[in-house]
Amino acid sequence: MLKIITVDGPSGVGKGTLCERLCQMTGFHFLDSGAIYRSLAYGVILEKLSLDHEADLVALAASLPVQFQTGKIYYTQDDITQQIRNEEVAAMASQVAAIPSVRAALLQRQKDFAQPPGLVADGRDMGTVVFPQADLKLFLTASAQIRAERRVNQLKNQGLTANIDQIISDIEARDERDRNRSVAPLIPADDAFVIDTTSLNIEQVVEKSTEIMQQ
Ligand code: CDP
Repeated sequence: MLKIITVDGPSGVGKGTLCERLCQMTGFHFLDSGAIYRSLAYGVILEKLSLDHEADLVALAASLPVQFQTGKIYYTQDDITQQIRNEEVAAMASQVAAIPSVRAALLQRQKDFAQPPGLVADGRDMGTVVFPQADLKLFLTASAQIRAERRVNQLKNQGLTANIDQIISDIEARDERDRNRSVAPLIPADDAFVIDTTSLNIEQVVEKSTEIMQQ
């Protein structure tokens, strides 16, 4: 039977790494819904669309020329895997993601990732909106400071430099927008298990998730 595991939570909380491990353990497919919103943001920047012209944003979302292939993300023919990871794209993603009609236009595309044997879905509203019927819902949290530190380390590993204070303020601005938007706000589903990862390493988060899965 098709199984769905949702992993929601704010930026830098360790969702991506946990999802990767859950996929390895289960052999399930992976939905990086943030990458869909980031790809849309990339398109908005590329096409110089205005945030005030909702119809243009919805039209692009409905026909978004993005493809996920063996760990890479393509926009038309272009490999945008790295390009969508910068803060300009992230900030634009959270702005377009606050528009209800844009979210609606991306809904079916996300649901289509649910294929046998199962799916691990990473995002903000996977357990509340996209897959409310999920078999297991996890919601990760952590302090803004530790999330910013993790982001700095991630960037360092990619050979990039980062200013921690700038990252904290970017993360807080994005959290604020994600939490306070009118549609699909960043909150745990009523039936989600909340894991605070502030003082946990990835092994401990995987262990906790596995314990919950076996309950
Ligand atoms: O990598 P990070 O956790 O910082 O962000 P992401 O998951 O790639 O998502 C980028 C932005 O897309 C978020 O700040 C949200 O505003 C938006 N998003 C959303 O609204 N709903 C989702 N299911 C996933 C992302």
